Amino acid sequence: MIKGIIFDLDGVLVSTDELHYKAWKKLADELGITAFNKEDNEKQRGVSRMESLEVVLQKGSKNYSQEEKEALAERKNDYYKELLQELDKSAVLPGAFDTLADLRKRGLKIAVGSVSKNTPVILEKTGLADFIDKVSCGLDITKSKPDPEVFLVAAKKLELAPEECVVVEDSAAGIVAAKAAGMKSLGVGPYYQSLEAVYEARGLDEAIDWQTIIEA
Ligand code: BG6
Ligand code: MG
Repeated sequence: MIKGIIFDLDGVLVSTDELHYKAWKKLADELGITAFNKEDNEKQRGVSRMESLEVVLQKGSKNYSQEEKEALAERKNDYYKELLQELDKSAVLPGAFDTLADLRKRGLKIAVGSVSKNTPVILEKTGLADFIDKVSCGLDITKSKPDPEVFLVAAKKLELAPEECVVVEDSAAGIVAAKAAGMKSLGVGPYYQSLEAVYEARGLDEAIDWQTIIEA
């Protein structure tokens, strides 16, 4: 019996993807990497900040030291944080508030499992924090998805066994992480059909048979 649902944040509960893209694009332009585009941005879905930086740098020709890379990632994060200032509940994806409220009413525990270190700020600014019992994020972990750590920490915080949890994800790395954690997954978002999740839905505003998922 499923007792907890662990939601990824970016692209599942909130539409921050465009803000991440804008911040990376600004950095890329400053570095003269004008070839960085939306298609590259898709490769950054669900992967850590440092790995996302590599996606940008691969489109250029210059080599950077580890120290320089850390400074670049921090610069991008400053741009991103600036954009996050404007964030409010209008950024919450369709169906997210209703789904969280409904699952709570059914007696399920809710966690967020995201590699983003900006998770606490995003949850507060959007009002999602009120709907969530526990948060496992980039600040709690040392290994990013596809490593299962972020979901295992979430289950532990919920005081549940991994097999009592279902993960909701929009990224391939996140679905692999869920499997590695021993958790079933619901794939959502633009690539929901190719994620190889156990359950699939275009978004949280679709008719999702939660009863079947919970009782499976
Ligand atoms: C994930 C996003 O949720 O968080 C990635 O899908 C992002 O695109 C990653 O790189 C890390 O986020 P942050 O906020 O710590 O830079
Ligand atoms: Mg995501």
